[in-house]
Amino acid sequence: MPEMTVTPLHPSLGAEISGVDLGKPLDDATSEALSRALAEHLALVFRQQSLTPERYLAAATAFGPPMRQHYSQHNMPDHPDIGLVWHRNGQRPAEMWHTDHTNRELPPAATILYGVEIPSAGGGTSVANMRAAYAALPEEERRRLDALRTVNSLDGHKDTRPEDWEKFGKPIIHPMVRTHPVHGSRAVYFHITKTLCIEGMSPEDSRACLADLLDRMIRPEITYHHAWRKGDVLVIDDRATMHRAHGDYDRSQSRVLWRIIVEGDRPRLI
Ligand SMILES: [Fe+2]
Repeated sequence: MPEMTVTPLHPSLGAEISGVDLGKPLDDATSEALSRALAEHLALVFRQQSLTPERYLAAATAFGPPMRQHYSQHNMPDHPDIGLVWHRNGQRPAEMWHTDHTNRELPPAATILYGVEIPSAGGGTSVANMRAAYAALPEEERRRLDALRTVNSLDGHKDTRPEDWEKFGKPIIHPMVRTHPVHGSRAVYFHITKTLCIEGMSPEDSRACLADLLDRMIRPEITYHHAWRKGDVLVIDDRATMHRAHGDYDRSQSRVLWRIIVEGDRPRLI
């Protein structure tokens, strides 16, 4: 196998990995190097991959154990740990900045997306470096956020299944700032629509506070925009980034991404 190389894609985050074929078994040293590269660069891009569901799931374990996604109506019937991101399923692109599945006690370390069908223009995915966002805040505001905790639950859609509400709807509390378990740095961590409230604050004030934070924190200098090509795999570190989809593509074309999330640690501030 050629040697793995890591090429930064943006001054703040994102790196392209070459010399790794995710369709073949990965040895321990490569898996370890990929985990470290993810913690450092926060978004990894692999080009021209050709994966079966089985191989995709096996490759994902380099970053952690695949975990069940809660909108089970979109999971692949024979491979329920792969979710289909596809507007023809009735989904709308997630255009608001967020990190995934914060309503879980052990939320994902990473979200992995595989580009299976890509529209001819638009439909990209943007990823923002929330470690850099935290570092850029004034000292006083960092101390204020360090003390906050969010109460998270499933946000749900009209087609959310009752069994998913049952399994994933109970409130889970997480710190608003979390320490990365591999990198040791701090990042701002929340999902605006999965936050029922910030502890001690009304839902309305909480929403306004989070919206204001997103507004001030997310800037082009800390954002990598991924323009999809068929066969791309994008790995996003959910512990220190937020991401969003772009709905700016022709809906008569297909945009299909296979999504895997892998389990991480319980968020904590050290
Ligand atoms: Fe997401």
